[in-house]
Amino acid sequence: MGTKIAGTGVYLPKEVLTNFDLEKMVDTSDEWITTRTGIKERRVAKEESVVEMAKGASLEALENAKVDPEDLDVVLVATLTPEKKFPSTGCLLQAELGAKKGYAFDISAACSGFIYALEVADGLLKSGKAKKILIVGVEKLSEIVDWTDRSTCVLFGDGAGAVVLEKSEDESDILASRMFSDGSLWDILYAEKCGYIKMKGRELFKVAVRNMEDACRKVLEEAGVSPDEIDLVIPHQANVRIINALMEKLGIPKDKAFVNIDRYGNTSAASIPIALHEAIQEGRLRRGDLVLMTAMGGGLTWGATLLRY
Ligand code: UT7
Repeated sequence: MGTKIAGTGVYLPKEVLTNFDLEKMVDTSDEWITTRTGIKERRVAKEESVVEMAKGASLEALENAKVDPEDLDVVLVATLTPEKKFPSTGCLLQAELGAKKGYAFDISAACSGFIYALEVADGLLKSGKAKKILIVGVEKLSEIVDWTDRSTCVLFGDGAGAVVLEKSEDESDILASRMFSDGSLWDILYAEKCGYIKMKGRELFKVAVRNMEDACRKVLEEAGVSPDEIDLVIPHQANVRIINALMEKLGIPKDKAFVNIDRYGNTSAASIPIALHEAIQEGRLRRGDLVLMTAMGGGLTWGATLLRY
């Protein structure tokens, strides 16, 4: 019995903030942001709450999967910007969706949250403890960004991506997945309880490439798949230079990486599910394809998932 992505969805806030808008806010330039990160614009949730974004993405994913919210066994939300201290954003979303049958909880693994959630959900499905699971990666990073700090405020964006997972009747499956963390490196990327995002960018860059490559190699090895068999890589969208370096190290052609960082910036836990949805919509990912996903974020946390879509 395998695990299948039955449907995906996204919610992207209406408000677009371009690099040119940022030029008016801090001492930066479109040229610096584009060449150092690949970002051209990002979305900012001025009107939307975290739960509203999560609900928008979820409804689209449920509709695409033809799954009724009442049939969900688990609602799993990956976020570092929860709606409230408690209850979990998962519980608030569960109420909004009317997903009464299941239970809900949040995963806090920063940018790696979606990869962590996939592994947890895969375990629940394969153990028989759940039949249908909704995962949402959602972030409202604009609330914890210091809009006077040019070294961070140009990087992040808001949004949500969702997937519905269910038991597979065909070859679709999560073939291998791994989660990692190293808490001793927490102060490379963090935010205090009521504070802004702090980041040692240059240090993080190097660790990100090394750790994501290592996680990817481990899942490929576990599944007995070689890099040249991969149809599409969906990496966390933190910096296009990190993505290019990762592809080079893995020996996979750069055009096999799905990149949408130019439009959304770094949306943390939402970045992979948003990219996954767009890859499917654009026909870049077709049933039967082998897709490798990997992320790295605050914790430090990192991981990779290899799946046959
Ligand atoms: O999602 C979690 C994972 N996140 C990441 O993996 C992020 C990893 N890090 C990065 O992506 C990059 O390190 C950054 C994009 C954050 C920074 O790029 P960089 O090439 O490492 O630049 P830097 O921090 O070394 O800064 C280079 C220069 C500095 O000026 P000096 O000291 O050379 O005079 C900065 O002050 O660029 C300056 N700078 C800026 N200039 C214009 C920093 N931010 C800006 C800015 N506009 N927004």
